[in-house]
Amino acid sequence: MSTLKKIAVFTSGGDAPGMNAALRAVVRTASFHNLDVYGIYRGYQGMIEGEIKKLSRGDVANIMQRGGTMLKTARSMEFMTKEGRKKAHDQLQKHGIEACIAIGGNGTFTGAQVFSEEYDIPFVGLPGTIDNDIYGTDFTIGFDTAVNTAVEAVDRIRDTADSHNRLFFVEVMGRHSGYIALHTGIGTGAGSIFLPEEDNSVEQLIKQLQKSAKRRKLFNLVIVAEGNQNGGAMEIAQKVTEKYSEYETKVTIIGHLQRGGSPTANDRLLASRLGYEAVVALMDGKQDVALGVVHGETAFTPFHDAITKSKQPKESMIRMAEILAL
Ligand code: F6P
Repeated sequence: MSTLKKIAVFTSGGDAPGMNAALRAVVRTASFHNLDVYGIYRGYQGMIEGEIKKLSRGDVANIMQRGGTMLKTARSMEFMTKEGRKKAHDQLQKHGIEACIAIGGNGTFTGAQVFSEEYDIPFVGLPGTIDNDIYGTDFTIGFDTAVNTAVEAVDRIRDTADSHNRLFFVEVMGRHSGYIALHTGIGTGAGSIFLPEEDNSVEQLIKQLQKSAKRRKLFNLVIVAEGNQNGGAMEIAQKVTEKYSEYETKVTIIGHLQRGGSPTANDRLLASRLGYEAVVALMDGKQDVALGVVHGETAFTPFHDAITKSKQPKESMIRMAEILAL
């Protein structure tokens, strides 16, 4: 039997489509179990500043389909300090909050882990980031939507690229993670994909372009993850043009477009499931774990592992993308 009475939920770091669906599931599940649930606005910064409000079932009606996060979000520098965390703890105590659900990415989980080492308030985390770079889950909330948005954008770019026979370099998000780039590249049949995890070379790309030209194979699309070692799409396009001027090159940076928008059905389902499971996990006495879905099953990963173990696109998928592009 759980003795838990009051929990809080917040979103932190970069917003991701599906965060609202997760929030809805948390509030509805908590209400079902007669728990009071508080929303903390603006992530850890709002925790420090006491932006905390009780939520009812009705407060989360009609938000499932909305992108962004109703609770707002922030990247808090103050929470990284001991003093900041002390203020946050005082606020949680003031509201009688006994446990927290944190929805966010790596930085969010790091904050939760440090906090729980200092204070006795259980945290569970839900992986909410478009980057899909969290260890302990096959997919993060928001990734599917971001990829679908990027694929749709690239399809449009392809129409005009084909018409003019131009070479487009399209930059997608992912400072440290190539998942969005890889999945977008495979989903759009890109000729080449530049990832942060790969040591792609511009020379190799030029060779590929030359080969394609010889075979009269259409090659008009390169997907670049923003964190690639050669730089972003702009830099790579410039390097290519300097050495190989056969193609007219164009650059598109999709940017924050791919972080907004209505979540896909997959993201809504994942978020609903994990939001539900997070409340059950807290009631079961779980703490300091990140939730995820691995091979279809709910998985619990200690924050320490979720933060320190890396999750990268599979080598086999990268190889497959290369073969399909030949
Ligand atoms: O982590 C999500 C993400 O969208 C990354 O893909 C991107 O590099 C970063 O956030 C952008 O952050 P900001 O919106 O703070 O510039």
